[in-house]
This record gives sequence, structure tokens and C-alpha cells, in this order.
Amino acid sequence: MAKLAINGGSKVVPEGMIKPWPHITEDDKVAVMEALERASPWRYPFEEVVELERAWAEFTGMRFALACNSGTAALHLCVVACEIGPGDEVLVPADTFLASASCVLHSNGIPIFVDVHPKTYNIDPSKIEERITERTKAIVAVDLHGLPADYDEIYEIAKKYGLKVIEDGAQAHGATYRGRQVGSLGDCAGCSLNGSKCLSALGEGGLFTTNDEKMRELAERARMFGEYVEPGKPREYNAYMMGWNYRLDPLQAAFARSQLRRLPEMTEWRIRNGRYLTERLGEIPGIQPPYVPQDRTHVYFFYPILVRPEELGVDDIPIDEFRDILCRVMNAEGVPIKAWQTRPVPAQSLFQFLDGYGKGCPWSCPYSRKGIKYDPDEYPVASDICRRRVVLGHSTDSFGPPNGIELMEKYAEAFYKVFVENLGEFLDSVRKEAKVA
Ligand SMILES: Cc1ncc(COP(=O)(O)O)c(C=O)c1O
Repeated sequence: MAKLAINGGSKVVPEGMIKPWPHITEDDKVAVMEALERASPWRYPFEEVVELERAWAEFTGMRFALACNSGTAALHLCVVACEIGPGDEVLVPADTFLASASCVLHSNGIPIFVDVHPKTYNIDPSKIEERITERTKAIVAVDLHGLPADYDEIYEIAKKYGLKVIEDGAQAHGATYRGRQVGSLGDCAGCSLNGSKCLSALGEGGLFTTNDEKMRELAERARMFGEYVEPGKPREYNAYMMGWNYRLDPLQAAFARSQLRRLPEMTEWRIRNGRYLTERLGEIPGIQPPYVPQDRTHVYFFYPILVRPEELGVDDIPIDEFRDILCRVMNAEGVPIKAWQTRPVPAQSLFQFLDGYGKGCPWSCPYSRKGIKYDPDEYPVASDICRRRVVLGHSTDSFGPPNGIELMEKYAEAFYKVFVENLGEFLDSVRKEAKVA
């Protein structure tokens, strides 16, 4: 029987087998070079940006799409479009990337966190109502790891209380919920085009979508310094509202447009890879692969695995310590699993210190409800996931092409080697590293 690589055995996944993300083709290179040829003089709007917006609107089936320079900017445009302002409260899942919550702070609104569901890891609809106050204006539903949230249940609550739904689809381009595309599942949506994402602008970028004319107009103004700028007409240089410079670069728009042509095919690879791995890992005690409800698809921006050492009889080592040792053991086998976000967002220092802009703003703002505090113990499911989670799918080891089933076979083989064939040796290593007798 092979020894574990961490103890000098040979590794399962050969060096160089894993290909990085984004996957760049000749078509992408031609698209960027053509955009470069057309790039001077500077102008607003660039045709490449308008073309990306048109194509994303068509892909998602939405009336309006606006490209901007990050996913965070796209989410902030959603917040502006929903007319969220000082002291307004917005519900956000406790386990997500910071930007799902900080986009609210950017408009002086107050994020209020909701625990997540133990199976989907997305906002738990059964815990939303208890967080609603007379100041609540919207719910941010995040399609975490690549799995759409429970939109029907979320909308039922949103309608009852007159709230807007903002979709954070940063991690889930190409996934569907009851046949509808990510990017079309909220009253408005923000997706990221950061280079690590399932649809990428190579560097940074973002996409805002809505069907609502007024929301589009507010978002468009916020993107352009708060001004009205109409193509072909002289610029007035007059800001009608608070605005930012959230415009997207034409070279990045051209790259993202080119990638969007292949998004359906790239999504198929992701889904095939994820399903295969889940089938294989499902047989192995000690680890829990992701759950996917039948009415939606998961595109595995991250493939999350929860460690369950108690299933192996290990209950004397802190779970996060077991997780970190497992990462070292699996990394030695060539499987690049890593922890992702080891604490819920409300446990981050920003929310513990309650100071966004200095002087305690926006929490100390006279429009904000007094006494808001973020107690990490109020989010037990998110905290548990953060302790147990490891992920595959960083830009160094994506689930997209050209990585395919051959690589997934190797991953499965490595987990089998560690958790089944060499379980005794693995647990000895765990105990030695954790210094448990
Ligand atoms: C869930 C989620 N929301 C928002 C963002 C922000 O996107 P960006 O990095 O493009 O600003 C990210 C980026 O990682 C994300 O994962």
C-alpha cells in the first residue's frame, strides 16, 4: 500500500496536471488585440463595453445590463438602484464574501446578517423574518460557491414586507434556478468579472442587471459620477446625485465578451466535473461533498467540502485544526484544497469595531438604529461551515476547462488514499501534528 506523500510516499496528482484559470484561447487573444487596435481615442461609451452589456442582457434574459469595473461596484450599483441610504437595513447571509455586505456600507446602509442553511450554505429563508425591522429595505441573496439561493422562498418574504431582492451572482455565472439564469434572479443583480470568476474579464470587472427602467437609470448615473451622459450629446458636467467612476475598460470588456461566447460550454465542464467528484466523494466517511437541490444547477466556482472528523472517531481535536492538517496532507498528494473564509462575515473586525468611515460611521449616524451589534454566536451554522470548509476551484485549480474528469479521478483517488486506504497513517499524522497523545 502506498505511503502518504506527506510521509515520503509518492503523490497522487502529478506535477503540472492541473491547469490554471481563466482558460485563454486564440479567440480571446484576437478579441483583445482587435479592441486594442480600436482603443484610441478614449471615448464613452466604448463599443466593446456596450456589446458586452448587450450580450449579457441577452444571455440572462434581462432588459438591461450595465458593465462596471468590479463585482463590488456592480453590487453597490444594486444598492443605489434600490434607493438604499443612511440607516436603511439590508439582510445579508452571514457566510459570504465581504463585498455582499460592504456594498451596503458604501451607501451608508447597515448590513444585518442572517444565518445560512446547513445544506445549501446559502441564506436560510426560515431565518429571514426574525431579522426584519421597519428599516429593512432589501435582501442580498448570494449564490455562494456557484449554487443559486432559494429565490422562491426569499421572494415570498420580500413581497410580504415590500423588500427588494438583490442577487449577488459573483460566484455563479452560468448556473440556473428553476430554468432561469444567474443574473436574472433578483430585482437587480451584481456579478463579478474578476479573473478568478466563472466568467472573467481577465483582471477586474462587473455586471449589473435589472428589468426596471428606473433602477437602470439610477445605476447608470451612479456609474458615471452621478451625471446624465447621453452618447452623441455634449456632456453637461453636472452631477445630479452622488456618483462614482465605475466604468469598465474596453480591453477587459472584449475579453469578457469573448469568454461569454463559451460560457455554456465552460459551464458544462464545471457541472460534469462537480457531479463526478460528488459521486466519488460521497462514498468516503469523514468528508461531505456539496448538496445540490434538483431545481437548480451548481457551477462550482468553489467546490466546497466539509470535514467531519467525528465520523472517523476523532473528537479530541478542534475541527479547524483537523481541517488545516488535512490541507497539508492533501496538498502533499497534489490536491490543492484550501480553507476559504474561516469566520462568518459579521465576525470580521470591521463589524466587531463598528467603524466604517471613522467616528463609528455609518453605525453612529443619527439615521441608524441604535444598539446594533454583531455577535458571531448568532450564526452557528455559518460558524460551523467556516470551521469545516475546504475548497477546490481557485484560479490555480479551477473546475472549468481544460481540467476534466481525468483530474477529478485523481482528486477522488487521493481522498480515497488518505481517508480509506491509509486512514490509520493519516490519523496518526493528525494526532502527531495536533500533539494529542
Ligand atoms: C460572493 C461575492 N460577492 C462579491 C464579490 C466581489 O467581486 P469583485 O472581487 O469583482 O469586486 C466576490 C468576489 O470574490 C464574491 O465572491
